[in-house]
Amino acid sequence: MKVRAVDDVSFQIRKGEIFGLVGESGSGKSTVARCLMNIYQPTKGEIWYHDVNVCDKKEARKNKKMLQTRRQMIFQDSASSLNQKMKVADIIAEPMKIQHVTPKRGSFRKEAAFQMEYVGLDESFLDRYPSELSGGQRQRVAIARSLSMEPEFLAADEPIASLDVSIQAQIVNLFRHLQQEHGFTFLFIAHDLAMVEYLCDRVGVMYHGKLVEMADAEELFANPVHPYTQTLLSAIPVPDPIRERKRVLRTYDGEELENSEWTEITPGHFVLLPHSESGKGVQS
Ligand SMILES: Nc1ncnc2c1ncn2[C@@H]1O[C@H](COP(=O)(O)OP(=O)(O)O)[C@@H](O)[C@H]1O
Ligand SMILES: [Mg+2]
Repeated sequence: MKVRAVDDVSFQIRKGEIFGLVGESGSGKSTVARCLMNIYQPTKGEIWYHDVNVCDKKEARKNKKMLQTRRQMIFQDSASSLNQKMKVADIIAEPMKIQHVTPKRGSFRKEAAFQMEYVGLDESFLDRYPSELSGGQRQRVAIARSLSMEPEFLAADEPIASLDVSIQAQIVNLFRHLQQEHGFTFLFIAHDLAMVEYLCDRVGVMYHGKLVEMADAEELFANPVHPYTQTLLSAIPVPDPIRERKRVLRTYDGEELENSEWTEITPGHFVLLPHSESGKGVQS
């Protein structure tokens, strides 16, 4: 069977904003990001980065250096796939060496130390190997590496998904801090909607390869329009037990279920509504 991983998706990411892309596994988020970064070549369509259509092979080739230096990507497994044989200093400086970028701060080591400070690691880490770091520290190194080129556009594909829950918030805070500091345009792909709400200015929701909803983060979380977005948001745990008890379980087409029927709640099946708002809308 032919899968159309991404189908007729159109959106703009504005300069300097944090754009979140959410959706269940297999909905096409990574494919979108990989197309933006020229890792995948879309079969149809255009992707513009400034005035370059990056899908046009000739244009992409002509602007290769610009595209490879100004855009960087962090993958879910970036932290675990750091080169085990290289020291942190070399890992961070490697993209600069590959692209023949002259270090502004005198040496590649100084450049690496500078980036390390930004991600909250001191110089003593420069001579360590990845195996001598914790998961969170490795992710910080992966982030420092992607920032060594001082990118204008950063795409992070589920960068916190493989980290311990206790570390996730720290890394999200770090992204927020770095984005404010450097002002890069940021595409943040995540499963965790609470993190997306906290971090992102605008959010796009993907479902079966399509972009089904796009809105300012505040608006999307307060007033989701598409049934899938409503379902997705209803799956966010509600910590308040009183509020939790007031929720009504509904099937996807709006039918109310009795509390005794609460057996399983999976996105794609149910929308939860508080009693008071039944028939009106969906709470976040
Ligand atoms: N390299 C590939 N070859 C074939 N199919 C792929 C490839 N990458 C992704 N897919 C398929 O494309 C769809 C979207 O996948 P993906 O973009 O990875 O989704 P997400 O990142 O939202 O989990 C899925 O059906 C997936 O199986
Ligand atoms: Mg993915």
